[in-house]
Amino acid sequence: MDAWARPAVGDSPVPGQLTTRLLTAETWPDFAALVETNHGVWGGCWCMGFHPEGFSAGSPEGNRAAKKSLVERGIVHQVLVYEGDACIGWCQFGSPAELPNIKNVKAYEKDVTELPAWRIGCIFTTGRQRGRGVARAAVDAALHEIAAAGGGIVEAYPEQVDGRAPQRGAYFHTGPETLFADLGFTRDRRIAKWRWVMRRTVVP
Ligand SMILES: CC(C)(COP(=O)(O)OP(=O)(O)OC[C@H]1O[C@@H](n2cnc3c(N)ncnc32)[C@H](O)[C@@H]1OP(=O)(O)O)[C@@H](O)C(=O)NCCC(=O)NCCS
Repeated sequence: MDAWARPAVGDSPVPGQLTTRLLTAETWPDFAALVETNHGVWGGCWCMGFHPEGFSAGSPEGNRAAKKSLVERGIVHQVLVYEGDACIGWCQFGSPAELPNIKNVKAYEKDVTELPAWRIGCIFTTGRQRGRGVARAAVDAALHEIAAAGGGIVEAYPEQVDGRAPQRGAYFHTGPETLFADLGFTRDRRIAKWRWVMRRTVVP
């Protein structure tokens, strides 16, 4: 994997340069500002859908509180991408226990032989910043974090791009297949018409 510019906490972010930080209690306000700018993302998901709690809170406010609680308890793995001081995107990752509610889970479980150590969950780039490498930076940084945490098999569940009409970014909340292919993932199996399980091993 290429080296990625990731300043330590306290470094001065440079305007125009993408940097990454983890979602923690300290960076929560930056994440919250991004989600609020995007009306909760998906009408108030607050990036809770893949977590064990799912949408059990039943409202955008409840989802916000549930996500904040997970972050404050230190049980969320999520890379935030910044330009200057502004958080403009993210990539969620975690163990299968942390992110059990993947899309097409029944099809996934039907043929599963070995759970991965890690999953890539949802990816998001704020509207005006799309198409300039924010998602790539987020996933790349997540892979670096996974390496630092011991590595292992990593799964992603992206949407196929080739062989279909161009899709809006909203359809690619688990990423486009091309991005993961570029980052060394290969197809494992199909779990929906356009969704694949893709895998790669990350060495520590
Ligand atoms: C899908 C999404 C994450 C891509 O983010 P992005 O920052 O624009 O992506 P990048 O610029 O890093 O592009 C990475 C690669 O994906 C490809 N890609 C991105 N959007 C694509 C699209 N709509 N169709 C096909 N390929 C796409 C790019 O071509 C690029 O590959 P390249 O560098 O070889 O050209 C973004 O469109 C998005 O946030 N969509 C909404 C997803 C969502 O709702 N998430 C929240 C769920 S809770």
